[in-house]
Amino acid sequence: MIDTRPMIELRHLHRYFGNTRAVDDVSFAVHRGQVFGYIGPNGAGKTTSMRILASLDLPTAGDATIDGFSVVNDPDRVRHRLGFMPDYYGTYSNVNVYEYLDFFARAYQLRGSRRVDAVDRVMDFTGLDVLADKPTDGLSKGMKQRLCLGRALIHDPAVLVLDEPAAGLDPRARIEVRQMIRSLADNGKTILISSHILTELAEICDVVGIIERGKLLAMGSVEAIQQQAQEKAASGAGISNAVEVRVLGGAKALGQWLAEQPEVSQLQVNGEAVRFLHAGNLEAEADLLRAMIEAGFRVVAFGSKRQTLEDVFMQVTQGLVQ
Ligand SMILES: Nc1ncnc2c1ncn2[C@@H]1O[C@H](COP(=O)(O)OP(=O)(O)O)[C@@H](O)[C@H]1O
Ligand SMILES: [Mg+2]
Repeated sequence: MIDTRPMIELRHLHRYFGNTRAVDDVSFAVHRGQVFGYIGPNGAGKTTSMRILASLDLPTAGDATIDGFSVVNDPDRVRHRLGFMPDYYGTYSNVNVYEYLDFFARAYQLRGSRRVDAVDRVMDFTGLDVLADKPTDGLSKGMKQRLCLGRALIHDPAVLVLDEPAAGLDPRARIEVRQMIRSLADNGKTILISSHILTELAEICDVVGIIERGKLLAMGSVEAIQQQAQEKAASGAGISNAVEVRVLGGAKALGQWLAEQPEVSQLQVNGEAVRFLHAGNLEAEADLLRAMIEAGFRVVAFGSKRQTLEDVFMQVTQGLVQ
């Protein structure tokens, strides 16, 4: 069941830096226990909006609320309810894992047994208990990432804002981060998580929003966005398939021939392979292959990549990267 009051809500949020519209009229809501994937390329405005949610920056216009409290008017209440994990590691030399977490517990004014319990709970959840005595600057990237997540969790906030937590991790560490995030959401936390790679988040997100140049371009459940893409692919409108053709001899000539065909774009010729996007439906693709062979090209392979979320993302945001 979805609570009626959203735990995170952005209302016509704007943030300009001079002429740069880093966040340009973004609105969305995330409900209790949901994971919202905030997806967009570098420079899209993800960090800027997350910093405003964490009350580290103020909007140019609009507002955002955490559990109903305004980040503009009620930043103290917001900070008690929100844990923020920035996209850089704030670790220090000469501080071990226990001291690091204990320091942030103190910063949240946790005292006595409550502080000990908070640090223990976080070390247990992140699996850092075995590393309690290790200096933080000597930790692996994956372990530093756990430590930063732990720091965001120290005051047991209802809302988590995680800025690219899986960036730069090896596959194993990435899977572990995903599992931790899923388990936090299953325990009722509301999570906003960003990435510039859609597939990195698809499995764990209930809702995905695609942001580019400060604007939210598409939003919905992962299934809804997939469905939308399939319908578009079936009707041949908008969304293209990535096609790769291998041909004996004349890849260059095939490239020239393809450039004249309708619904073909972004041609690349590389050795014997020609890659391009095809905006038509599958029937049109089959017709294209037949025409290619009838035109005398010695096709040895024709591969058409089915729609994935990654493709949709690439096409929704195509050409808009700043
Ligand atoms: N403090 C700042 N001063 C000027 N421009 C900024 C500042 N912070 C971010 N920007 C600009 O705002 C845009 C969005 O940046 P950011 O929110 O960091 O994107 P993302 O996190 O999606 O990569 C970029 O064009 C960036 O250069
Ligand atoms: Mg960023």
